[in-house]
Amino acid sequence: MASLTIRKLDDAIKSYLRLRSAKNGRSVEEEVRVILRDYCEGSPAPTASLTSPSAPTERPAVERANTAGQASVTLIIGGGIAAFKSMELIRRLKERHIDVRCVLTKAAQQFVTPLSASALSHERVYTDLFDPGSEFDAGHIRLARECDLIVVAPATADLMAKMAQGHADDLASAILLAADRPILLAPAMNPLMWNNAATRRNVLQLRRDGIHMIGPSAGEMAESNEAGIGRMSEAIEIAAAAVGILRPPRPRPLAGKRVLITAGPTHEAIDPVRYIANRSSGKQGFAIAAAAQAAGADVTLVSGPVELRDPAGVNVIRVESARDMLHRVEAALPADIAIFAAAVADWRVANEGEQKLKKTAAGMPPLQLVENPDILATISKLKDKRPPLVIGFAAETENLIDNAKAKIARKGCDWIVANDVSPATGVMGGDRNTVHLLTRDGKDISVDDIKVDSWPVMTKEQVATELVAKIAKTVEKNS
Ligand SMILES: Cc1cc2nc3c(=O)[nH]c(=O)nc-3n(C[C@H](O)[C@H](O)[C@H](O)COP(=O)(O)O)c2cc1C
Repeated sequence: MASLTIRKLDDAIKSYLRLRSAKNGRSVEEEVRVILRDYCEGSPAPTASLTSPSAPTERPAVERANTAGQASVTLIIGGGIAAFKSMELIRRLKERHIDVRCVLTKAAQQFVTPLSASALSHERVYTDLFDPGSEFDAGHIRLARECDLIVVAPATADLMAKMAQGHADDLASAILLAADRPILLAPAMNPLMWNNAATRRNVLQLRRDGIHMIGPSAGEMAESNEAGIGRMSEAIEIAAAAVGILRPPRPRPLAGKRVLITAGPTHEAIDPVRYIANRSSGKQGFAIAAAAQAAGADVTLVSGPVELRDPAGVNVIRVESARDMLHRVEAALPADIAIFAAAVADWRVANEGEQKLKKTAAGMPPLQLVENPDILATISKLKDKRPPLVIGFAAETENLIDNAKAKIARKGCDWIVANDVSPATGVMGGDRNTVHLLTRDGKDISVDDIKVDSWPVMTKEQVATELVAKIAKTVEKNS
């Protein structure tokens, strides 16, 4: 049977469902099931009410944050004094845009009320395995599966024993047995209970079963004058552990590496208002900067004039001309990796007008062009400050591979990313790119031994990710 994600529905439909479920004292999911069941049994579909002016389209901010959540947690609260800390845990999870649905054991209700959990989670709270309201379509299975993570806090000695043994005689244990999601336990109990051989056996078994655990920590027990290991971890620690399971930290293979990247065109002034430029958009270089930053690198991006926003966390230096770009690149050294993706103008105007050039009877003023500095060759041939890995880009409209191979040898760089920029490819200014990565291991390799890896057509972001992955592999190999 297909499953339905409420938060992906239109706002108007969500508002209508929330209003209706609140009026009927049901959760939104249950309300949807009731509507569908009624409809199957012949009741008219509630379309009129959807457009009713009484259905609010704007919801309170707290509710919007809740439905915009990217992950959801089923929080099982066991019967221990620490259950009061789980009220804060609900708040901490929701602060992190995680939807929370609470299940309270019978014993937990001696310590906290379903009403408190419901008010904090903005969701119906579940307490009963044999609740006809949610069990007509196996509610305990849904609570076990329609979430990204199950958190048990406090995890009592009793709940852990049931889990280790595979019991399912109440809602909490039935959910835990039916779960196919990761489970995080936050045990809390008297130190003697924690140190008891039976609990130790159960904990060992649960760890072997792949159950995540946080705590308990050492400290004084709330209910007695005893101290020892058994205190439940703080709500903020449990929330952080939950986030760590839901969104594992991304690998950062370029952490500690300095990456220098150039991007975009250069503008070479003819006079104060005119310039020579090219069609480079800067998208590929900016995408590489973002990918390198995501891989943990310390990234400096020297960009010619482009209409792109600075990638987050990247040090962006904006320049105009090829000479500006070279100065800023040199100033940004040393770097571990330099990637020259900018389309630097080969020539600039030697006789740049100090004033705007005027039309004259003699016709067009002659423009004398002079060669610009070659940034890739200059940096590749540095003695002391040459980055260990220098990568150039070759934008060609013919004989792509041969020209790119010759460029590696001529410029003295290590790799070349060659792309065909003929107008028909739409690469210049477009969002996709077809590239060939030319690599050589060591400078004395002959042109024939340069390796060519041809990649399929990809978005510029995908090219960036692939390139950064390749760089990370090489850095790892060489370190
Ligand atoms: C005042 C009081 C405090 C308790 N605190 C804990 C506790 O912190 N940890 C624990 O494992 N059991 C504790 N218990 C025992 C549990 O409530 C009992 O084992 C219960 O059956 C657990 O049910 P549950 O696991 O279904 O929530 C406590 C009992 C009482 C009366």
